[in-house]
Amino acid sequence: MNERFIAPAFIVSMLCGIGLMVTYAMGGDPQAEGLLLFGAFAGFGTALTLWQKHLLPHNEDVQERHHVESTPEEQKEFLDTIDEGSHDITRRKFLTKLGGGAIGAMGLAALFPLKSLGPNPGDKLFHTDWHEGSRLTREDGSYVRPTDLEEGGIITVWPEGHSHEEQNATLLIRVPVDQFQPKKGREDWIVEGNVAYSKICTHVGCPVALYHEIKHELLCPCHQSTFKVLEHGKPVFGPAARSLPQLPLRLDSAGYLVAQSDYREPIGPGFWNRGRKKGDEA
Ligand code: FES
Repeated sequence: MNERFIAPAFIVSMLCGIGLMVTYAMGGDPQAEGLLLFGAFAGFGTALTLWQKHLLPHNEDVQERHHVESTPEEQKEFLDTIDEGSHDITRRKFLTKLGGGAIGAMGLAALFPLKSLGPNPGDKLFHTDWHEGSRLTREDGSYVRPTDLEEGGIITVWPEGHSHEEQNATLLIRVPVDQFQPKKGREDWIVEGNVAYSKICTHVGCPVALYHEIKHELLCPCHQSTFKVLEHGKPVFGPAARSLPQLPLRLDSAGYLVAQSDYREPIGPGFWNRGRKKGDEA
């Protein structure tokens, strides 16, 4: 291999970078993307190695000078050198441009994976479909009255019209009213011992599905976070650091359980600006 391969190596790198962008924009193919990425870096690395080996000076040359005045032969030789040098400079400029093109193509290709971050969630992380007056609804669409559950009973409920949407899943549990310790300001959030918590674990979002009736604790099966049902869902064990969000309940005029509002804090795991609109209720 010699310097004649520098330009082709840069071109290969550039084409692979462009190919990577096109492949990604057309839906992506991990194997093709891997090969193209390899080609882009291999071409660029080869070009730089050859450049360093063949185009950069490696020796220091010292010319002995005995005569101050140049002979006609020396002058001719000098002029030939300048001519050769100008070709060299032109060639280096061309290679520099190709190298810049290869870097640009790889740089642009590196930006494309940003698209994989997905659509902007907007305000969705702050809200569920619960709202003022939403009836608590079972999986089969039936409504829930406060006496439907025995003490110690638990069911999953959804806002009317939005069943099976993960972010709305809510656990309704009936607890002994005299043992419940409401958080300050939440004294009227339960109805006849019916308390409702988000089913989405505040650690990394698994469904909190196990209820220990004797201890009144909810357990997340993923990493064993444990939440106190009688103490506004506060975590007492495991990696979850935040309480399960509580849904404020009331009765409607027909005697069914309804929500007073949406959750007053974002449900589920933490995210970078979770506290921006609603306070951390840990
Ligand atoms: S997701 Fe619940 S403890 Fe980790």
